[in-house]
Amino acid sequence: MNELVYVSGSFRPAAEATVSVFDHGLLYGDGIFEGIRAYNGRVFKLERHIDRLFDSAKAIRLQIPHSHAEVCAIVVESCRRNGITDGYIRLVVTRGAGDLGLDPRNCSRAELIVIVKASLSLYRSPSSGIRVVTSTFRRHSPETLSPSIKSLNYLNNILARIEANDRQADEALMLDVHGYVAEASVDNFFIVTDGALLTPPTANNLEGVTRETLLEIAGTLGIGTEEQPFTLFDVWTAKEAFICGTAAEVVPVVSVDDRTIGTGTVGPLTSRIAAAYHEVVRAQGTPINAGSGDDSRLPESLVLGACPTN
Ligand SMILES: Cc1ncc(COP(=O)(O)O)c(C=O)c1O
Repeated sequence: MNELVYVSGSFRPAAEATVSVFDHGLLYGDGIFEGIRAYNGRVFKLERHIDRLFDSAKAIRLQIPHSHAEVCAIVVESCRRNGITDGYIRLVVTRGAGDLGLDPRNCSRAELIVIVKASLSLYRSPSSGIRVVTSTFRRHSPETLSPSIKSLNYLNNILARIEANDRQADEALMLDVHGYVAEASVDNFFIVTDGALLTPPTANNLEGVTRETLLEIAGTLGIGTEEQPFTLFDVWTAKEAFICGTAAEVVPVVSVDDRTIGTGTVGPLTSRIAAAYHEVVRAQGTPINAGSGDDSRLPESLVLGACPTN
């Protein structure tokens, strides 16, 4: 609990980083979030993640209280002040404090929170592959809440994960309302068919940054890719399967609904893609320390505040 958390416009020790009980993020899940990773002293795909944060904000008509450049600078500064070279960064933007009524007009200013952790692991033994079960909870359809919005409303994903826990599985696979495969509870989903990668189009899942990175990597490795709807039958009979996300990275799936996937071990294409991903994330990104001394993109309150050295 020694981390410094950015909240209400300044960095505070984690134990003192609090928001109002009247914040609509807490009362109604009214807000959005982002998860980003830093590797090797660089923040991977920082601008892309902040683009998605601003897109989610626009979709729910939330005014982020900083510019895109300022949010990027706050993320880098959070890593710097916490001495992070490798770690996970969580951004949360809530509608802010209002009253007990639902109307967002009562919330005068959105709240930006940035939390940085040196490590985060989501599954017990990700490298040897995880067991997945299909959830009875369906992923939101675009007619209800667009899955492209990375909102603070994760209750259907959480219910799916509880179901997976109850069934002694590591992760839940979620279908859309039409019965097509959508994604896992916090990750995108791929299968391997005839040497090519297949993943659902993003109409029924989050436009994952890892997903798009893997599609790019597959292109450079000469591995075929397809974005097409598919069903559980395709999953159960796939040669390989994996989930992917910023926090999880690339995690092989060795069984789905008690059907062994391929040989029940990590498949060759999954290994290749995972290895290439690990190389790419360590080779590019926004430097954390290169900007030391250049505070021009930071909000004024942070520039004037004492900046602990790392
Ligand atoms: C529902 C859902 N799908 C997919 C992902 C993966 O997205 P990304 O690769 O951008 O982290 C996430 C990440 O949080 C998620 O919450």
